[in-house]
Amino acid sequence: MQFVYNVILVLHFVGLAALLGGFAAQMKSPDKHVTKVMYHGTLLQLITGALMVVFAEAGWVDETINHSVVGTKLLILIVILVIAVWSRKKPAPQVKAWAAVGILTLINICIAVFAGAAS
Ligand code: HEM
Repeated sequence: MQFVYNVILVLHFVGLAALLGGFAAQMKSPDKHVTKVMYHGTLLQLITGALMVVFAEAGWVDETINHSVVGTKLLILIVILVIAVWSRKKPAPQVKAWAAVGILTLINICIAVFAGAAS
């Protein structure tokens, strides 16, 4: 089960790359907006993060979840998701939505790394 958990963690990083990569790639674009790749990265973060919590809570892997860290990351991710869905049908540029998603993603990375989601 540890192998499957690690695969899910890799996918968690893929989602992170999609979010942050989608943000960074538009740094110089005049049409900054929340792209489909960023939106799908958000969904991947949510699914893989939730799955890792399930694996740890079920005792399938030897990981202890830090609930306050995961809860905070989940709240921030929900905000990202709301912004992504809200700005999806709107015409570019959507600079505020693009910037908010990038900054919130960076905050979530800092929370994950400095506070630790699991140990
Ligand atoms: C934009 C949103 C998110 C970002 C940028 C993010 C980023 C990260 C990063 C960088 C790590 C690796 C840190 C480490 O292992 O020391 C990590 C691990 C983890 N994340 Fe997230 N995360 C996000 C959302 C979520 C959500 C919503 C959940 C739960 C519902 C979640 C659950 C976890 C768990 C359980 C781990 C621990 C993996 C392990 O160390 O075994 N994450 N996340």
